[in-house]
Amino acid sequence: MTTSRSDAPSPYSDDLTDVSAVAYGFDPDAYGLPSERELAAFAAGYFPEFYPERSAKTGDVYRPTVVPSDSSDAGRVAPRETDVEPGRSLPSIGGTPLEKIRSDFPALSLQVNGKPLVWLDNAATTQRPQQVIDRISHYYSNENSNVHRGAHTLAARSTDAFEGARSKVAKFIGAPGDKNIVFVRGATEGLNLVANAYVKPLLQSGDEIILTQLEHHANIVPWQMIAEETGAVLRVAPVDEDGQIILSEYARLFNKRTRFVSITHVSNAIGTIAPVQEMISIAHGFGVRVCVDGAQSISHMPVNVYALDADFFVFSGHKIFGPNGIGALYGKEDVLESARPWQGGGNMIADVTFERTIYHRAPQKFEAGTGNIADAVGLGAAIDYVSAIGMENIALYERALLEYGISALGRIPGLTMVGRAADRASAISFVLDCQDNESVGRYLNDAGIAVRTGHHCAQPILRRLGYEGTVRPSIAFYNTYDEIDLLARKVSELAR
Ligand SMILES: Cc1ncc(COP(=O)(O)O)c(C=O)c1O
Repeated sequence: MTTSRSDAPSPYSDDLTDVSAVAYGFDPDAYGLPSERELAAFAAGYFPEFYPERSAKTGDVYRPTVVPSDSSDAGRVAPRETDVEPGRSLPSIGGTPLEKIRSDFPALSLQVNGKPLVWLDNAATTQRPQQVIDRISHYYSNENSNVHRGAHTLAARSTDAFEGARSKVAKFIGAPGDKNIVFVRGATEGLNLVANAYVKPLLQSGDEIILTQLEHHANIVPWQMIAEETGAVLRVAPVDEDGQIILSEYARLFNKRTRFVSITHVSNAIGTIAPVQEMISIAHGFGVRVCVDGAQSISHMPVNVYALDADFFVFSGHKIFGPNGIGALYGKEDVLESARPWQGGGNMIADVTFERTIYHRAPQKFEAGTGNIADAVGLGAAIDYVSAIGMENIALYERALLEYGISALGRIPGLTMVGRAADRASAISFVLDCQDNESVGRYLNDAGIAVRTGHHCAQPILRRLGYEGTVRPSIAFYNTYDEIDLLARKVSELAR
C-alpha cells in the first residue's frame, strides 16, 4: 500500500490508521513489518488500559503491572531456542518463576550472531523490563507536561508521577523522606554534584579527601578536578592481594586535614563489596562525612542509607533496569541544606530579582531547569519491578549464581581470576594465559555472550592487581545457571 501525502489524513488525528505509511510515505508491508493498524490492535490487546478510546481521561491513574506479571502475559515473548543443554528447569526468585521474569525483558529474547543473547554485561548496563518501557510510553501518551508549574490537569499528573517516583526512590533506599532525594543524570552527575556543591567550598590548600583503590573513574576524576582547583590532596586507601580494602590502612589515612571520604560500595571491575558500614563509622569517628557510590550495589542487594549512616549515596537508573539519563543522589538533610546550588536556572528558585536570588530548599535547589521527568517515572517503575520480587530474594539468588560462576570459571586451566575478595557481587574478572582479552570477548560474542573486556573505567584497581584489562562477565538476577555453563564451556574451548 502506498499513499500520497496529499490525500493522507493528518498524522496528528486521533485515528492512528496507518499513520506511519502516510506520514513517511512507505509501505511497512513491503519491509515485512506490521502495519500501524496491526500494531495498534496488538498493543490494544495487551495494554487495554492504554487504549480506552485512545485518549486519557481526567483522573486516569497508571497502575503499573509489576512482577509477577499476570498469567495472560506469559508466553508474550517467544520461547528461546538455545544451545544450552535442556533439562535444567529454571528456579524461582522469592516465589517468582525466573522464566516469567525473563519473559518480561524483551532484549533477553534477542538472537545475536544466530545465537540466543546471553547478557552478562550487567555492570555496564542492565536490560529493561517491558513494565519500564510501557511506563515511559504511558507517561508521554497521557501525562506529559512540565512539572511544578501550571494549574492544568497534565501538569498535575506529571508532577504526581515525578514526585511519586521520588518517593519510590526514597523508600527503596531507606531515606527518611522525599526531600533527601535529588534527581540527577546518573551516578557520575551525582558524584560531581557532591564534589562541587558540598565538598569544594570546604576545601583549602593541603586539605585531604580519601578515596580507595577500588574506585570507578567517576569517583576519581571529579575529586582530582576540585583538588586541582583548591590545592587539596587525594589520599587513597589500599586493597590487599584479593582486592579487598585494608581497613586498618584506611583508618590510618585520617588526620586533622581530612575533609571528606568518597567510596564505592561494590567494585565494578572486580566485584569486591567494600565494608562501607565500617568505613563510614570510622570516618564519622573522625568527624568526616562520607559519600557512597552505589552504582554497582543498587541492583544486587538491599540498600539502606539510614542503616549505613551514609551522608550521601548515588546511583544510576540504567544499572537497575531503569532508563538511561536518570539517577538519584541521596543526601542527609543537613548536608543538602548546607551545600550550595550546583546549577542555576528555573525550578530551583523561590524568588529572583537582578540583585539577588532566593533558592528553594533541597532537593529543588539542585534541580535547575526541566528535568528528565519521563525517565524519573520510568525509574520508579523499575523500582516497583525489583521491589515486587524483593531485593533480599534477588541478593540470595545472585550470590548462589555468582559462587557457581566463580567455581565454574575457576576450574578452567590457564584462567586467572582478577580479584578474589570473599565478599563479592555480580562481576567476575579474569584473564586467560594464552588469549588476549579482546579475542576472548569476540569469541564469546560469536556465541551470543555479551561480556565487557578492557579496563572497565577502573584502571587504578586493575593496575594495582597487575593488569591493564580483563574479561568481565557480570550477572543480574535474570541470568541462569545454564548461561553460566555456556560461558564456562566457551571460555574452556579457548583455554585449550
Ligand atoms: C562503580 C561505578 N561508579 C560510577 C559509575 C558511573 O555510572 P554512570 O556512567 O551511570 O554515571 C559506574 C558505571 O559503570 C560504576 O560502575
